[in-house]
Amino acid sequence: MKLLVTGGAGYVGSVNAARLLEAGHEVVVLDDLSTGHADAVPHGARFVEGDAGDAGSLLAEGFDGVLHFAAKSLVGESMENPAKYWHGNVGTALNLLDAMRDNGTPRLVFSSTAATYGEPEEVPIKESAPTWPTNTYGASKLAIDLAITSYAAAHGLAAVSLRYFNVAGAYMNYGERHTVETHLIPIVLQVALGQREQVQMYGDDWPTEDGTCIRDYVHVVDLADAHQLALQHAEPGTHRIYNLGSGSGFSVKQVIDTCRQVTGHAIPATVAPRRAGDPAVLVASSERAQEELGWKPQRTDLASIVSDAWEFARKH
Ligand code: UFG
Repeated sequence: MKLLVTGGAGYVGSVNAARLLEAGHEVVVLDDLSTGHADAVPHGARFVEGDAGDAGSLLAEGFDGVLHFAAKSLVGESMENPAKYWHGNVGTALNLLDAMRDNGTPRLVFSSTAATYGEPEEVPIKESAPTWPTNTYGASKLAIDLAITSYAAAHGLAAVSLRYFNVAGAYMNYGERHTVETHLIPIVLQVALGQREQVQMYGDDWPTEDGTCIRDYVHVVDLADAHQLALQHAEPGTHRIYNLGSGSGFSVKQVIDTCRQVTGHAIPATVAPRRAGDPAVLVASSERAQEELGWKPQRTDLASIVSDAWEFARKH
């Protein structure tokens, strides 16, 4: 297939672009480099620098599908500067959907998020769970999901939204290197590398066994496999939504301990106040993705996820 990958210079987008190329697809990366890196665009992909909301002239070339990764994704920033998320995420996605409709682009795979659910009533979280996002980032992704549903029904688009839980790990030269890093595993590895003094654990009085928050870490390569399955299974006029997680939760303390084992560094950790908007436990039920897409996450062992992230962090 000829595929447009928006955000293909970012973490999840570049891994996906690399895996799509390996699977024999033709890949065009569209990225404005606001948070991505030009050198993260995989060899073999054509790179176009630009905004995903301006994809019309590119799509006029004729594409079999779009994988839309480009987005703003900092929860804290989304609360301070909501316009950046409503215009930057929702506005851009609407422009992209219009361009796809106008050019007859048949398939879309969209990067949605567990943040669409907010504080869950039940864990593991199924796709049928209520969606009450607790931050603007999650709300912007939910709004896009709703728009995709209407465009699919009205214009025959074959669409899939994938709701990622906590993406981690790396693939070859492609990994996480945000200028502003907020995610737990890369921060802990920065401590191991001596780039930070310590890691702050946001709260140790949560209603969990060791008092720290529990998350579901999914390897970025497993995530990429799910995107390829989504492309194959997408049906015209239908919008399907799938949660993607490994199905087991690890606490902040367990993550730090695993990083100590993998890196052999002491990694000092202190307790800090809770971070606003953090739910205590987020674990996915990925049953629907397993049953309908045949997705089976292969790299669910936390130590190997951390090892891959560590190998990447040491090189970059
Ligand atoms: N944490 C710390 N210290 C840190 C960083 C994080 O204790 O320095 C904790 C957080 O409080 C949280 C856990 O580690 O309990 C994981 O935090 P991350 O920031 O790595 O990830 P989140 O669970 O907040 O967010 C992830 C994605 C978001 C997405 C969200 C959906 O990164 O984009 O899942 O649930 F919105």
